[in-house]
Amino acid sequence: MARNLVINVDQQQFWNEVKGDFWVTLKPRIDLLLSPFGSAALNALSAAPDERILDVGCGTGGTSAELANLVGPGGEVQGIDLSRPMLEKARAEAAVSSPGVLSFEEGDAEVQEFIPNYFDAVFSRFGVMFFDDPVAALGNIRGAVKPGGRLAYVCWASRQDNPWIRIPTGAARQFLEIPPAPPDDAPGQFAMEREARILDVLGRAGWSDVSVEKFEIEHNMGKNLNDAASFICQMGPMSEPFGNASQALKNKCIAAVEQALEPFTTSRGIDMKFSTWIVSAKNP
Ligand SMILES: C[S@@+](CC[C@H](N)C(=O)[O-])C[C@H]1O[C@@H](n2cnc3c(N)ncnc32)[C@H](O)[C@@H]1O
Repeated sequence: MARNLVINVDQQQFWNEVKGDFWVTLKPRIDLLLSPFGSAALNALSAAPDERILDVGCGTGGTSAELANLVGPGGEVQGIDLSRPMLEKARAEAAVSSPGVLSFEEGDAEVQEFIPNYFDAVFSRFGVMFFDDPVAALGNIRGAVKPGGRLAYVCWASRQDNPWIRIPTGAARQFLEIPPAPPDDAPGQFAMEREARILDVLGRAGWSDVSVEKFEIEHNMGKNLNDAASFICQMGPMSEPFGNASQALKNKCIAAVEQALEPFTTSRGIDMKFSTWIVSAKNP
C-alpha cells in the first residue's frame, strides 16, 4: 500500500495523543471486553485459508492476529490504522505470533491509496465510526476489494442501549470535565448507531447485499465494583481527564462510578448490556 495523506487529522491526533497509550496499556483487558463482538463479526466474515484480508482501524492488532490464524500461512492480513503507538504494539505482537502473514500500515483508510481489487474481504472491529466522510471512506475501502469480495464489521448500536458506557460517564461528569458527546452522526463511538444510516452510507459507497443484524449481550465489565469502575474510567470518554486528575479526585470519581454500577452486580461481578450491529455486505 502506498502512503497517503491523512484527512481525518482530529482523529489522528486523538488516537495518537489522547487514546493510543491507554489502549496499548489496557490491551489485554480491552481485547477481552471486545472479544465477543469481534467474534460475531468474524463469524459474519467467514475468512478462509489463503485469503487476503484488510483490517480497518486495526488498533493494537488483536483481530488482525485472529484473522491471520484463519487465513493461515498462505494468506495475508493487512491492518491499517492512524495510531502509531497502537500499531507499534500490533507489530511487536505480530512478529511473535504470525510472522510473514500479518503486516500493518499507518494511514487514513478514508484516503489511503490501496492496491485496487487486492483483498478478498475487509473486516473491522469498532474501527469504522470515525470517518469525517464515511461514504467516501467506505467507497475508498471498497476499491481495495475484488469484485464479489466481502465486508463485515461490528459497530456500536444505540447509546441508550449501551449503559456500560453511558452510566459510568454520567457518574464521572460531576468530578471531571468530560468532552460533550459528538452530535448525532458526527465521527465518534456512536456515529453508526442508527441502522438507517448504516444502510444509507454503505449503499452510497457502492456496497450491495447489505445485512445489519443486532447483536446484544449481557457482558462482564469487571470482577467487582472497584475493578469495573477503575477500568471504565481509563477506557471511556473520561480516560483523559481522569488520567490528568489528582489522586483525590480520581478516588471520588471511582467511588461515584462504583455507586452507579452497584445495581448491575451479579454473582459473576458487574454485568451490563452491550448493544452492537453486525454489518456485512458485498462488493458487487
Ligand atoms: C475503537 S478503536 C478499535 C481498535 C481495534 N479495531 C480493536 O477492536 O481493538 C478505533 C480504531 O480506529 C482507528 N481509526 C480511526 N479513524 C481511522 C481512519 N480514518 N483510518 C484508519 N484508522 C482509523 C483508531 O486509530 C483506533 O485504533
